[in-house]
Amino acid sequence: MEPRDLAQQDRPDSGHAELPKDFVWGVSTSSYQIEGGADADGRGPSVWDGFSHQPGRIANGDNGDVACDHYHHWREDVALMRDIGVGAYRFSIAWPRVMPTGQGAVNEAGLRFYGRLIDELLRSGIEPWICLYHWDLPQALQDRGGWVDRDSAGWFADYAGLIGDRFGDRVRRFATFNEPGVFTLFGYVFGWHPPASNDISHFYRAIHHVNLAHGGAIDALRAKVRRASLGCIHNVQPVHPVGQSREDVAAAGMLDAIWNKAFPYPQILGRYPGRLVAAIEPFQQAGDLERIRRPVDWFGLNHYSPIYASADPKTPLGFVWRDAPADAPRSPIGWQIDPSGFRDTLVEVSQRYGLPIYVTENGAGTKEVLDASGVINDAARVDFLDLYTLSLREAVRRGADVRGYFVWSLLDNFEWGAGYANRFGLVYVDFATQRRVPKESARWYKRLIAAEARRAKP
Ligand code: FCB
Repeated sequence: MEPRDLAQQDRPDSGHAELPKDFVWGVSTSSYQIEGGADADGRGPSVWDGFSHQPGRIANGDNGDVACDHYHHWREDVALMRDIGVGAYRFSIAWPRVMPTGQGAVNEAGLRFYGRLIDELLRSGIEPWICLYHWDLPQALQDRGGWVDRDSAGWFADYAGLIGDRFGDRVRRFATFNEPGVFTLFGYVFGWHPPASNDISHFYRAIHHVNLAHGGAIDALRAKVRRASLGCIHNVQPVHPVGQSREDVAAAGMLDAIWNKAFPYPQILGRYPGRLVAAIEPFQQAGDLERIRRPVDWFGLNHYSPIYASADPKTPLGFVWRDAPADAPRSPIGWQIDPSGFRDTLVEVSQRYGLPIYVTENGAGTKEVLDASGVINDAARVDFLDLYTLSLREAVRRGADVRGYFVWSLLDNFEWGAGYANRFGLVYVDFATQRRVPKESARWYKRLIAAEARRAKP
C-alpha cells in the first residue's frame, strides 16, 4: 500500500485532542550527520570519521567530512528553523570538537562554535536542547577501550561537566545519550557501527558503562546547571516475532530487552530487565544501580517503526534481525509505517516510567532528487508526519503524558550506513552546492505549528 492510500484508509481517529499547554514543536539533528568541518579549528577525530572511511562500510563510500557543512552554514540553518516557526532545536555536541582527545585539553574554538549557535537560537526564540552524545566518541578514547573500559563513565561525566559549565547559563535542556540501545547493539554485535566489535562480553560491558556514564553525567549537569531539565533519549519500538513459535517469541523478547529496556530500566526503575541480569552481573560493582538511577525530568523517545526478530541459536544473542512482512505499508526507503504502534508505545512508556515524554525523533526517509522545477513535493513525508502526529494526539487522549514532538530531521544529512542516499529532511540539501530547499513538508509543519499556536491562545 502506498502511504497516500494508507493516509486515507487508516487515519487514526483522534479528532483534535487537546495537547498540553506549552507543547513543544521542534526539529532534531546530530553533529556528525550535519556539521562537516571534520578537522576544522582543532576538532579531533571521532570513531565515525575512521569507520566511514573504511571501504565497504557506508553506501556509495560516503562519509561525514563535509555533510551539510553546518559548521559554516549554521546561521542559515537557524534562519530556516525560524521560518518554520519551531519552538525548539535538538542538536548534539561533537565531543571531539570540544575535547579533541576526549579528556583533558579543551578546544575553545569548538566551544565558541556551539556558543554562537546557542546565542543565535535564543535570539530567534528557539530553545536549544543539547544532546551530549550522538555516537561520535573521540577516537582517542576508543583507542583506550571506549565504552568497554569502566573509566569511560568518568570521562563522560567530565565532558558533561564542561558542557554544563560553559552553556548552563543559557541552556537548561540536556540529554545524556541518543539511543544507547542502538549504538551498543549495532557497534558491539552487528558490526554496522563503530567499533564493529563482535565480542559479546564487550557488548554487555558497554551497556553497563554507558548506563554508569549516564548517571555520572546527570549528577555533573545538576551540579552545574540551575533549573536543569534532564533526560536520556531512548529508541522505543514494538518488537514482533516473525513467526508464532515459542523460539521466535523468546527471540523477540530478547531483542525487546536489549533494544527497548537495557537503558531505561536501570536508569529509571533501578534494575536491569530479567533477561539481561545474569549477563551484566559480572561487570557490576556494589552501588552501581544507585549510581545509574539518578532522577531525570523527562523521557526522550525516538520512534520510527516496529522491528522484527526470529530465533537463531547460532547467533550470540539467539536471534536475528528480520524485515517487516512483505505486505506491510512502507515509507519510500522501506521502513514500515505503523502509526498505531507509535500510539501504543507512547501510552505504554508513559505508564511504565511515569515521566513526561518528549518525542525527540520521528520522521520518514525518502529518495528525492531536485529537478528543474525547484520544488520538492514530499507527499509521502507529509502523510507520514500527519498520521504520526494524529496518533500522538490519540495517545494523549488515552492518557499518555506527551509534552513535545521533534521531527527528524531539519536537513537531509549523513544517514549512517546509508550515507546520503536516504533523506530525512524537511529541508532538501543539494550536497554538491550546499543549497538548502525547504520541501512541502516544511510548509506543512509551519502550518501545523501556526495552527497550534492559534489554538493555544486564550
Ligand atoms: C535514529 C538516529 C538518527 C537518524 C534516524 C533516522 O536512529 O538517532 O541519527 O539516523 O534514526
